[in-house]
Amino acid sequence: MQENLKALEAEARGDIEKAATLEEVEEQRVRYLGRKGKLTLILRGMKDLSPVERPGVGKLANEIRARVEGLIRQRMSVLNESQKEERLEKERIDVTMPGVRPRVGNKHPLTLVLAEIKRVFMGLGFSVVEGPEIESDYYNFEALNLPPDHPARDMQDSFYITEEILLRTHTSPVQARTMERTAPNVPVRIICPGKVYRRDADSTHSPMFHQVEGLVVDKNITLANLKGVLTLFVRELFGADRKVRFRPSYFPFTEPSAEVDISCVICGGKGCRVCSHTGWLEILGSGLVHPRVLAMSGYDPKEVSGFAFGMGVERIAMLKYGIDDIRLFFENDLRFLEQFGTV
Ligand code: PHE
Repeated sequence: MQENLKALEAEARGDIEKAATLEEVEEQRVRYLGRKGKLTLILRGMKDLSPVERPGVGKLANEIRARVEGLIRQRMSVLNESQKEERLEKERIDVTMPGVRPRVGNKHPLTLVLAEIKRVFMGLGFSVVEGPEIESDYYNFEALNLPPDHPARDMQDSFYITEEILLRTHTSPVQARTMERTAPNVPVRIICPGKVYRRDADSTHSPMFHQVEGLVVDKNITLANLKGVLTLFVRELFGADRKVRFRPSYFPFTEPSAEVDISCVICGGKGCRVCSHTGWLEILGSGLVHPRVLAMSGYDPKEVSGFAFGMGVERIAMLKYGIDDIRLFFENDLRFLEQFGTV
C-alpha cells in the first residue's frame, strides 16, 4: 500500500511538471485530487484497512496529498507568470506613436457670418435683442405701417397660423416691440437676429431663413448716420475697398428708404452673371423710421428720429463665400460644412 502511494506521488509529480497550460494543471488536479481522483479514492479506501496499517498509511497519504497540492500551486504560479508576460507583451503600446486626432466640428457658415455681423454692430454700441418667431399680425404688419392690402400680407406669401397669428415674415416686428417698450427714452441702438419664414423655395429662397434687423432711435438721427453706419458695416464684412451704393427704394415702415448695394464680389463691378451685368449686388434694405411707426410705438416724431435696416444672413454668407444655392445651408452635408473656419 505504501509502495503504491509513493508510486502515485511520482506519477503525479511527472504529470504536473508536464502540464504546459493552466488548463492542463487543472486537469491533473482533478485526476489526482478531484472527487474521483486517484489519491482521493485511496484516502477514501482507508476505512477498509486494518487498524494496524491505518495510521501509517493515513499519515503518508495525507503528506502526499499536501505535497501534490503544493506542486499544483507551484506549477500554476509558474505558468501564471509566463502567461502574464505573454499577455503584457500583447498589450504593449508604443507611447511614442502619433495619436489619432479627435474629430473637431466646424462652426456653421451662418453662425460665422452672424458672429461677424454682431461683432461689427456691438463694436458700435448696439445691443442684441430677440423677439418671437410666432408673431401677431399687429407687430408683423400693422405697427410697421403695412397697409391692409399690402401684398406681403397675402396668404400666398406668409405662413398664417390663425387669422391674427403667423410666422414672422421679417425681423422688423422686433423694432416695434422694442420701441414700444423703450419709449420715450433714447437712445435705442439694437440689432435683432433671428429666423423668419416666407412661402418661397428655390435656389436663392428658403421657406425659413435668417435676418438681422437694426434700429437706432435718438435725437437728430439723419440719413447721414444711416449711411455712415452701413458703409462701415459693408467695409468690415466685405473689405475696405468694396464700393457701396444707396439706391432709393420703398418700404412702408421707412421714409425715405434705400436699398444698399455693394460692388459685385465676383467681377468687382465690371458686370457678370452673378450681378446680372449691373456690377452691383443688393445686400440690405434700410431707411429712416417712418414718423407713423415712431408714433405708433409711443415716440414723438417731432422729438426723435431713427434709422432701420434689415439684411438676410444667408444672402450675405452666399456673397461672402461664393455659395450659389441657399439649400446647401440646411442639408447638413459635412463635405459642405467642413469648408468653413474651424472653431
Ligand atoms: N424688413 C425688410 C425686409 O424684410 C427689410 C428692412 C428692414 C427694410 C428695416 C428697411 C428697414 O425686406
